Amino acid sequence: MKQNVVGELEQLRASARERVDAAGDQRALEDLRVGLLGKKGELTGVLRQLGSLPAAERAAAGAAANQLKDEIFGWIAERQAALEAKRHTALGDTEWVDMTFVPNPVRRGHLHPLTLILREVKAIFSRLGYEVALGPEVEDEVHNFEALNIPAEHPARDTMDSFYVDADQLLLRTHTSPVQIRYMQSHKPPIRIIAPGAVYRRDATDPSHGSQFYQFEGLVVDHDIRLSDLKGTIEYFARSLFGPDRRIRIVGDHFPFTEPSIGAAVSCGLCGGAGCRSCKAGWLEILGAGMVHPQVLRNGGIDPDHYAGFAFGAGLDRLAMLKYNVSDIRLFLEPDVRFLRQF
Ligand code: PHE
Repeated sequence: MKQNVVGELEQLRASARERVDAAGDQRALEDLRVGLLGKKGELTGVLRQLGSLPAAERAAAGAAANQLKDEIFGWIAERQAALEAKRHTALGDTEWVDMTFVPNPVRRGHLHPLTLILREVKAIFSRLGYEVALGPEVEDEVHNFEALNIPAEHPARDTMDSFYVDADQLLLRTHTSPVQIRYMQSHKPPIRIIAPGAVYRRDATDPSHGSQFYQFEGLVVDHDIRLSDLKGTIEYFARSLFGPDRRIRIVGDHFPFTEPSIGAAVSCGLCGGAGCRSCKAGWLEILGAGMVHPQVLRNGGIDPDHYAGFAFGAGLDRLAMLKYNVSDIRLFLEPDVRFLRQF
């Protein structure tokens, strides 16, 4: 009998060890624990036989059985730890998190190059005490042409072929100069404004012409305003925008609404004025200007015997092209972020 119980314990020890080490997961291990050590477990079954042993042998067999019980507990704990460690290692393959992953990265917008240029222009002129004035993009012929000394048969109308919207009475403004008239009609001197905005011409589209582009007008009216004031203003403006090294060239020009009229150019930043592929013999035209024609002052309700003024008009697109080295004006009208992000 004694031999029998001890033999069973030995057998159970071997098979329990084997089964615990083979348990594949926590669940199998728990089933084993119940199967071996539970109320109806295998070891419990062996222990039950102890009662039928002679008293002398009972103690030794009981001790052996209790020792086995402790051993099985130990193996299970060991196996449990091993399974847990294995699970943690496997997490590296199945549960990893990419800490660098950004879902839906937030793309910040970018200011349009024309907006950037306009902001600079406004900043430069606000340092000189100018205010910003705006006028309508749909104009009448009086403000766009007649009040600026451009009567119906004037050849200047040909170069500004217009988009008419209302039976030849209203048109998309061909330049920002009508704001001169509107502002003079509603304000008394001293006047110091710039008037930026879109203008429209029925030009054939090419790398330097578009049917919509942007200008800003400048108008100063006060006592004792002279051509030298205009020249100084242009110089200050061009150097502020393009850098202190640029030279300014003033040449005679013609506009019906200024007298005398001038054109201003800055020396090319690439060749320094020597002449290169990106400039016309070293100079880049940046604006048209002149002293406000006495009749234009009158049309604005200002007495030319008491006041004088100068005006200038520049293409924002052109300034942006010169400053940022953009080769095609049409890019400004394309909503291509790859273009816009470069500035
Ligand atoms: N309005 C002129 C143009 O569009 C530019 C200009 C403005 C010239 C003011 C002189 C004075 O070409």
